Amino acid sequence: MTDLLSATPEGYTEAARLLGRGELVAFATETVYGLGGDARNSEAVAAIYTAKGRPKFNPLIVHVHSVEMAERYVTIPEAARPLIARYWPGPLTLVLPLRPDAGISDLVTAELDTLAIRMPAHPVARKLLQEYDGPLAAPSANPSGRISPTTAAHVMDGLSGRIAAVLEGGACGVGVESTILSLDPLALLRPGGLALEEIEATLGRALPTGGNADKPNAPGQLKSHYAPGAAVRLNATDRQSGEIWIGFGSHCAGADFNLSEAGDTTEAATRLFGLLREADALAQQKGASCIAVAPVPDTGLGLAVNDRLDRAAAPRP
Ligand code: TXA
Ligand code: MG
Repeated sequence: MTDLLSATPEGYTEAARLLGRGELVAFATETVYGLGGDARNSEAVAAIYTAKGRPKFNPLIVHVHSVEMAERYVTIPEAARPLIARYWPGPLTLVLPLRPDAGISDLVTAELDTLAIRMPAHPVARKLLQEYDGPLAAPSANPSGRISPTTAAHVMDGLSGRIAAVLEGGACGVGVESTILSLDPLALLRPGGLALEEIEATLGRALPTGGNADKPNAPGQLKSHYAPGAAVRLNATDRQSGEIWIGFGSHCAGADFNLSEAGDTTEAATRLFGLLREADALAQQKGASCIAVAPVPDTGLGLAVNDRLDRAAAPRP
C-alpha cells in the first residue's frame, strides 16, 4: 500500500518519519515529482533503483534545502557562485566535486567523485527538506524509461504498491526535469527547466552544446526514455491517418491536443509529459498506433522539450 500524504504538518511529519526509517517517499518539486530516499542510507538508495527498475550505473541527484547544506556534501567553486546566487532554489542541478567526508552512499554517485546537487523551489519539497534536514536522493518518480510524473496521480500510476508514500503537491509548474550543468569542464549535460540562454547570459559566455552524437550527456541518459506506449513521429505539420496529433503554435488547427497555441515553449514544457500521457490513452482508446507532434523551436525551454521528444521517439530497446 502506498499512502497519499497531504501537504499538512501531519503529512510532512509522517513523510520525514518514513524517510528516517529508510523508506521511499515521492514528493513534488517544481520540475517533476521526485522519488526520495535518504542519500546517506545505501539500503534506501538501493530501494530507489529497485522501485524504478533503474540501471545502477545511472547516478542520482541529491536535493538540499540551503547552500550551507550543499556545502556539507560538495565543494562549491567560485565559478558556480553566480549561478547559485541567481538560480537556487530552482530547476538547476550542478555537478560538483564530492567532499570525501560527505557520507553520501556510493550508490548515489555510481562511485564518481562528483555529486549532482540541487535546491528545489517547490514549497512542498522545501518544507519536506527542512523537516527532514537530510540529503534526499531523488530521481523522477516513474518506472525507468517511462514518462516522468508531473502530478501525484502520475506517480501512483507507475509506482503504487512499490513505495511507502506520495506527498501531494499539485501539478508541477515547470514540467520538465532540471537543467544539469557540469562546472569542470563547463558543459550542459542535460537541457531542462532553466533555459540555456539564461545560463549563458549569467556566465557571460556561450556553452558548448551541439545537438549531435558528440553532445556531452549525463552518464546513463538512455536514448530511449520518456516512452509512451504508442510510437512517436516528430516535426509533424499535419495528421496522417491513424495518428493522434499534438499541435504547437501555428500547427494547431485540428490537433487533438496542443502544447501551446500561443507558441510559448515555457507553456509547452509545463504541458509536455501530461499531454503525452493523455495522447497515449487516447491512442489506446482509438486503436491509433502513433502520436505525431508538431515542430517546437529549440529556443528557451524548447531545447528541453525537444530533447524529451527525441527520446520518446527513439527506437525502443
Ligand atoms: O528535475 C530533476 O532533476 C528531477 C527532480 C526529481 O529533481 N530529478 C531527475 O533525476 O531528473 P534523474 O535521476 O531522472 O536524472 C538524474 C540525471 C541522470 O541523467 C544522471 O546521469 C545525472 O543526473 N547525474 C547524476 N549524477 C551525476 C554526476 N555525478 N555526473 C554527471 N551526471 C550525473
Ligand atoms: Mg528520469
